[in-house]
Amino acid sequence: MIVRAVPRGEERSKMLKRSFWDRYAGVYDLVTRPGNKELAEAAAWIAGFLRPRDRLLDAACGTGTFACLLAPAVEFVLACDYSEKMLEQARRKAARRGLRNVAFRVRDLRSLTLPREVFDAAVCANVLHLLDSPENAIAQLKMVVRPGGLIIVANYVHETGANSARMELISRFGFEFAQDWDAAALEEFLSEQGLRIIDKRLFDAWQPLEVVVCRADDDVV
Ligand SMILES: C[S@@+](CC[C@H](N)C(=O)[O-])C[C@H]1O[C@@H](n2cnc3c(N)ncnc32)[C@H](O)[C@@H]1O
Repeated sequence: MIVRAVPRGEERSKMLKRSFWDRYAGVYDLVTRPGNKELAEAAAWIAGFLRPRDRLLDAACGTGTFACLLAPAVEFVLACDYSEKMLEQARRKAARRGLRNVAFRVRDLRSLTLPREVFDAAVCANVLHLLDSPENAIAQLKMVVRPGGLIIVANYVHETGANSARMELISRFGFEFAQDWDAAALEEFLSEQGLRIIDKRLFDAWQPLEVVVCRADDDVV
């Protein structure tokens, strides 16, 4: 059985609540460990689009997996999340790896309160599917990335059959998706937000991971 999308208007998904992530922060890496290899492969692919002088935002960074994997490829990473406990884990991870170019801030993706156009690129991984209004999050990212910069979305997507047992397991932990995307639906959503997709790749992960690289300045609509 596939994890059902939470219909709009229904009581908000518990995954939208900060306290949910605060509670799971200590075990998040353990639970998601089976997908680590693919996340590292995805990060290596993403790094190919970044430049050494880039200032990168990792929006909803969680335990800092992408921030830490991408930090060596850029000048500076600002890693944001609205869960202080997830950020605590991220800080520890960066310290363990001796990374000195990553800073951490508590920020809500729905209202980032960061200066405009200061980042060359933003990575937004595995969070849009949790949001009732992911279009608001994209609008926030478009505000903080400079014209011509990149918005890189890496998101779990579903496929029927192959990973349904894993998805069922995940749902037992209370993980619910607000957006029921497969890879094509995610790409369509991003195009609808006025982003121009310049590349994409599906990583056949524990849970399939679609990575979509977009230019921030091309309003197609
Ligand atoms: C599934 S985890 C993904 C974490 C990380 N990006 C990764 O790929 O490993 C989702 C993260 O999004 C964060 N999050 C959820 N809603 C958020 C919001 N509105 N603003 C900021 N962070 C949010 C949670 O606290 C959690 O750390």
